[in-house]
Formats: sequence, C-alpha cells, structure tokens
Amino acid sequence: MYDFNGRALVMTGANGGISRAIAVEFHACGANMVLTDLNEQALRDFARELDPSGERIAVAKVDVTQSAEADAAARLCNERFGGIDFLVTSAGHFPKSPTRDMTDEEWHRIIAINLDGTFYISRAVMPYLREGSAMVHVASLAGHAGVIWHSHYGAAKGGVLAFARSLAKELAPRTRVNCVSPGIIDTPMVRAIMESDGDTWLANTLLKRMGEPREVATVVSFLCSDGAGFLTGETIHINGGLYIAS
Ligand SMILES: NC(=O)c1ccc[n+]([C@@H]2O[C@H](COP(=O)([O-])OP(=O)(O)OC[C@H]3O[C@@H](n4cnc5c(N)ncnc54)[C@H](O)[C@@H]3O)[C@@H](O)[C@H]2O)c1
Repeated sequence: MYDFNGRALVMTGANGGISRAIAVEFHACGANMVLTDLNEQALRDFARELDPSGERIAVAKVDVTQSAEADAAARLCNERFGGIDFLVTSAGHFPKSPTRDMTDEEWHRIIAINLDGTFYISRAVMPYLREGSAMVHVASLAGHAGVIWHSHYGAAKGGVLAFARSLAKELAPRTRVNCVSPGIIDTPMVRAIMESDGDTWLANTLLKRMGEPREVATVVSFLCSDGAGFLTGETIHINGGLYIAS
C-alpha cells in the first residue's frame, strides 16, 4: 500500500469496472480524487459509499469527447485539492463492428472516446501538474495485437500508446507518463466477447482465467508511486500471458 496522502488524482471513466477498483485502491492509499464519468448518478452513489464525508472525493460529469468538460474537471481538482498529482485515463468503449460495414460515425465515435478523450484530459491537467506527478493511460492488448471486429478500438488504443510515449518526452522530468495494457479483465466491457468467444480467450490465456479489476488497479498505483520513480514512457501488460510482448 502506497502513501498518497495529500496527493490528488483525476480519473476519467471512473464508473467503470477497472476504474472503480482504481478509485478504491487510491482511496485506501490516502489520495484525494476528482472522479469523472458520463454516468454521473451511478458514479455519485459509488463515491458516497467510498467517502461518505465527501471530503476526499469530488465527482463531475465528463464526456471525454468534450474538451470543455475535461478542462472543467482539471480546474475543479486544482480548486479543491490545490493541484494535480495523478491522471488516470480509463474511459473507454468497445463495441463490435466488422470494418467492412463500419460507418463513418462509428469509426469517429470510438476514436473520439478512446483517443481524443485521452488527449483532451491530458492537455487539461497540464497547467496543474505538480513536481513528481504521474499519468497512467489505460490502453489495451488491442493496441498491440489487434482484436477482430474492433479495428476502430484497436486503432484508438494504438494511438494512445504512441501519444503516451510522446508525452513522456514532453513532460519529463516533472511528470512520468506510462500505460497499462490489460488483456481480458472481468468487467461489463468484455461481457459480449466472453459470451461469444470466452472459451477461446481463456484457452489462449496462460493463467486460464480473466483478470480481476483489482489486478489492474494495483499496477496503476505502482506506476504512480515512488516505487516506479525511474519508469516513464513504458507500457505494462496485464493479461495473464495472453500476449507476451518482446
Ligand atoms: N475490461 C477489459 O478486459 C479491458 C481490456 C483492455 C482495456 N480495457 C480498458 O480499460 C478501461 C476501463 O474499462 P472497463 O473494462 O472498466 O470498462 P467499463 O465498461 O466497465 O467502463 C468504461 C467506463 O467508461 C465510461 N465511458 C464511456 N464512454 C465515455 C465518455 N464518452 N465519456 C466519459 N466516460 C465514458 C463508461 O461510462 C464506463 O463507466 C477502458 O479504457 C478499456 O478500454 C479494458
């Protein structure tokens, strides 16, 4: 357990399965947080359970495709907690769409959520990032290996990986920037592909199970901690051996 007392996290997509686990982890480490998501009411209910006093968690509705909403969330964190130490970009959307039939609108929507959204909130927090700060972008196995019927998502996540490497160069030495690339993690996002192809995914995963959201959260907190103080521009794969990167 790391000591994040007095430090402040901004997170997108915070009502998601992985993001909730990250919020629980950072709360236990003592961090203050601005949690954001499209689904504001569900997020408020979750935040109230985690921090009934509301002293350490502020909630904001942010559609990551809207840069003004990202800007407002960054300002809120600065006003409430005096600056920003950590950014975790975790909003994502993963609909099935064979490329031959994919509409322009479907393509642009998925790029907007997964890639534009990462850019907007990263730019928004920059004026407020404190010395020793860290960003963790939640990318995906799809950005490295591809996933059938999800080319828009794979392209967006590949873009996130490349974007993060460039940011690491721009923001050093004040801020470290890293990615995590989950494989199959047990959240609502993968329910459809597990229903259709779950046996194949698990057969190809060396550890023969889905990952737990908590197993992503602990890696994200490590990347934000002093334990990862010399680690920037990197990606950590969390996939139980589904894909072994060189
Ligand atoms: N679950 C997996 O197996 C897996 C694998 C690889 C990568 N990921 C990535 O992990 C992250 C978290 O995913 P999860 O599995 O917890 O999924 P999830 O579906 O549980 O959560 C996704 C969250 O993103 C939010 N969101 C969607 N569109 C948004 C928008 N326009 N603006 C703001 N919020 C929006 C949703 O409301 C939801 O709370 C995503 O970036 C996803 O791509 C997940």
